Amino acid sequence: MCKGAEAPGPEGFPKTSPLDFFKKFRRLKPPALELTSPGAFGCLFFSFCLIFCILLLDYRTANRGFGLHGHSLLRTWFGLNSSFSSSSAEPGDLGNGKVNFLEAGGSGCDIFDGNWMWDESYPLYQSEDCKFLDPGFRCSENGRPDKFYTKWRWQPKDCYLPRFDAKRMLENLRNRRLAFVGDSIGRNQWESLLCMLSSAVSDKTSIYEVNGNSITKHSGSLSFKFGDFNCSIEYYRAPFLVVQGRAPAGAPVNVKMTIKLDQMDWSSSNWKDADVLVFNSGHWWNYEKTIRGGCYFQEGAEVEMDMSVQSAFHRSIQTLVDWIRREVNLKKTHVFFRSYAPVHFRGGDWKTGGSCHLETLPELVSSRLPSETSVEVRTTTDVFVNLIKKSELQNVELLNVSRMTSQRKDGHSSLYYLGPKAGPAPLHRQDCSHWCLPGVPDSWNELLYAALLRKELTDAQNSAQHLHPPPL
Ligand SMILES: *[C@@H]1O[C@H](CO)[C@@H](O)[C@H](O)[C@H]1NC(C)=O
Ligand SMILES: *[C@@H]1O[C@H](CO)[C@@H](O)[C@H](O)[C@H]1NC(C)=O
Ligand SMILES: *[C@@H]1O[C@H](CO)[C@@H](O)[C@H](O)[C@H]1NC(C)=O
Repeated sequence: MCKGAEAPGPEGFPKTSPLDFFKKFRRLKPPALELTSPGAFGCLFFSFCLIFCILLLDYRTANRGFGLHGHSLLRTWFGLNSSFSSSSAEPGDLGNGKVNFLEAGGSGCDIFDGNWMWDESYPLYQSEDCKFLDPGFRCSENGRPDKFYTKWRWQPKDCYLPRFDAKRMLENLRNRRLAFVGDSIGRNQWESLLCMLSSAVSDKTSIYEVNGNSITKHSGSLSFKFGDFNCSIEYYRAPFLVVQGRAPAGAPVNVKMTIKLDQMDWSSSNWKDADVLVFNSGHWWNYEKTIRGGCYFQEGAEVEMDMSVQSAFHRSIQTLVDWIRREVNLKKTHVFFRSYAPVHFRGGDWKTGGSCHLETLPELVSSRLPSETSVEVRTTTDVFVNLIKKSELQNVELLNVSRMTSQRKDGHSSLYYLGPKAGPAPLHRQDCSHWCLPGVPDSWNELLYAALLRKELTDAQNSAQHLHPPPL
C-alpha cells in the first residue's frame, strides 16, 4: 500500500462524523460539565473527544467559511488569546501563575518546557512577502494545501515570552553581526530570521547580500546586511562544525576523506568575532553521511578506523567547547548551541519512502521524543551542557528546542520543496527533516530573541548598578 495515503492527523481520529459529536457537546455549557461529570473515566474520555473535535473542526473550518466560530471556541476552551504573547509590558504575575519572561521572576522560567498553542495572530510573516526564502521552504507556494502549520505559537509552561518585535531585535543587533553555523537546518533557521527581521523594514533594497550572491546558490556562506541598522545576519555551512577534508597520505584505500575531530571548520576565523553565534550540528553525524561514503574520523595524524559515529560526534562537541574557550571573546560574543531538531520520517527514511506528508497537526498530547532521535538528542546536548558547566563558560547558552520540535511532525516540507512549477515531489521522496517557512524555526528564533533581550536587560541592570552602586 502506498504510504503517503495513510490517514491524516493523529492516530485514533474518530472516523464517524466528528462534527455531529461536536454539535452534541457544544450544547453543554462548560459549567454544566462539572455538575454532570459521570466520573473520572467518562470525564477524561469526554475531554479527549472534545479536544479532537475542536481541533478537527478548526482544521476543517480554516479552509471553509465558518472559521470564526471554531476559533472563538478554541479561545474560550483553551484560554488561547493572542494578546497573551504580546504583553511584555505588563509587570509581574499575570494572575494565572505565569509571569513575563523578561520581568523579575521570569528568569527562572524554563522556556523550553511548554505547549504549542493555536494563535490567530500567527504567522509573523508571509512567505510571499519574503524574498530571502529558498524555494525549498515555500511550502504553501509550492502547493501545500493547509496552513495550520503556520498558526502555532510556543507557550512556555511558567511564563510568557515577549512578543517578537523585529524593530527591537534589529536595534539590539545594531552595528553587530549574528552568524548561524551548521547544517542546512541552520540555514532553515537563518532564512526564517531574515524573513522575521525584514518584515519590519519597508525599504527591502536596504537589505543585501554583501557579495551579491543569491540565496538559492547554497554557497558555503552568505551574509545579509540590514543597511539601516548596519547589522549582518550570516550563515556558514559547516555541517560537522569541525574540518572535513582530504585523507592523510598513507591512509587505507577505503578512506576517501576524513573528518578532523580536533580542528574547527576552516571558516571559523570568519565567524569567531561575530557578536552572536548560533551553532547547530547533528544531521550529518550518521553512518550514511560518513563511513558509508568512505569518510572516516581523524585525530591528529591518526585515522581512527574503528571509531563509532557517536563517539566522533561527542569528540567534535568537545572540540567546539575547547575552541569557544580558547578563541571566542565571551565578553563580547554571545554563543548559542541549538540542539538537534528531530526528523519525522515514518515507515522508512528519506530514501526508503519515509513519510510525514498529510500530517497537519502537532502532537499536542504526547511530548516524548521519537525513539530514533532521542539518542542523538540526549547525548550531544548533555555532552555540550556538561562541558560548558565544567569549564564555567559564561555567555554560552543552549537553545534546547529538541522536545518542542519533536511535537511538530506537521511542520516539514514533505512533498512541497520543489518550487511552484515542479509541483509536489513523489510520495517516496519526502522531506521530513527541513521545515516549511513560516513555521517551526520561527519559534526557535523567538526563543533566541527572548534570550538576547534578557541579556540586554541584565547588562543594562549591571551597568546601572555599576554607575549607582546600591547603598551599603
Ligand atoms: C483576550 O484578548 C482581548 C484583547 O485582545 C482581551 O480584551 C481579553 O480580555 C483577553 N481574554 C483573556 C481571557 O485574556
Ligand atoms: C531540554 O528541555 C526538555 C524539556 O523541558 C528537558 O526535559 C531536558 O532536560 C532539557 N535538556 C537540557 C540538556 O537542558
Ligand atoms: C558597522 O558594524 C560593524 C560590525 O558589524 C562595525 O565594525 C562598524 O564599526 C559599524 N559601522 C559603524 C559606522 O558603526
